[in-house]
Amino acid sequence: MKRIGLLTSGGDAPGMNAAIRAVVRTAYTKGIETVGILRGYEGLIEDDMITLTRESVGDIIQNGGTILKTARSERFKSYFGQDKAIENLNKHNIDALVVCGGDGSFRGACDLSKKGVLVMGVPCTIDNDQGYTDYTIGFDTAVNTVLDAVSKIRDTASSHDRTTIVEVMGRECGDIALYAGLTGGADYILIPEVPVDTGAVIEKVKEGVKRNKNHCIIIKAEGVDISTADLCDVVADGTGQEVRSVVLAYLQRGGSPSAKDRMLASLTGSRAVELIDQDSSSRAIGITGNEIADISIEEAVSIKRQVNLELLSLIDNLSK
Ligand code: ADP
Ligand code: F6P
Repeated sequence: MKRIGLLTSGGDAPGMNAAIRAVVRTAYTKGIETVGILRGYEGLIEDDMITLTRESVGDIIQNGGTILKTARSERFKSYFGQDKAIENLNKHNIDALVVCGGDGSFRGACDLSKKGVLVMGVPCTIDNDQGYTDYTIGFDTAVNTVLDAVSKIRDTASSHDRTTIVEVMGRECGDIALYAGLTGGADYILIPEVPVDTGAVIEKVKEGVKRNKNHCIIIKAEGVDISTADLCDVVADGTGQEVRSVVLAYLQRGGSPSAKDRMLASLTGSRAVELIDQDSSSRAIGITGNEIADISIEEAVSIKRQVNLELLSLIDNLSK
């Protein structure tokens, strides 16, 4: 009988629990045992493991967070950390490791793969910053959380004729800002992939004022090269408008996963186990178009995410 190790790593993402459930239940149907590793690579180094049964993953598909807990582990990046991790995998006779996490977690998985461990990557991060897949688990829920906040902010901004800057997460990737900006009807978005042009922001706000549109929603990704407080000051000085800001921060990481995220988690989680069952080599699973696809994990981490600039100009056109 095969044994799979399963961990969640990096920032938590809504849908991680749905992925855990899919891995454990698919393994169960194939007669494969699943060992849950707590707190990501930290738990792997510390040998912190639990047995996962089909019952232990009941009633979790709807919950945000991760029942396996997650962590960032600096020491896992060292030779010592990775050797200890492999020692513990061998000690528990684990044949393959499923890693649910983002780009950093996949780089760690890739290191293990190069040292002979069979690994499967399931893309879980709200940032949508993994270049080999169109979407990551958690992104859709995070965008919907931002949308909900933006529609509330719009009520008060329009009542007070104010400009409001909404700061969203995403590290070096602007996708949360881009998707929430387009679907939330933002007037302007700032993303890390495009250099900041504060003059253009000021012009956009002024254009609105000329059309008697005295409130303005600006969505700014956290990775942009100007602080939200500084941007507030620059826009207020340049326009004479009242400017407020909201940093949505960890709100974006919580909450019940959307149908889209549960679907992606169920499909990619179960594909990971099918590949292990078929004695595949190490793979990263993702979605391309409407198809669940897998590529070598080494290739996956080498692909840089490309920003969709057409969406950016669409936001500009639709906000005129
Ligand atoms: P995410 O997986 O969401 O991108 P991190 O970048 O924090 O989150 O990565 C999660 C963990 O993966 C890190 O704490 C570390 O243990 C491991 N990791 C990250 N980058 C690397 C790397 N370049 N090489 C090996 N392990 C890494
Ligand atoms: O990777 C997910 C993410 O939420 C990023 O958007 C953000 O920059 C980071 O994690 C925050 O990390 P931490 O939880 O360590 O503060």
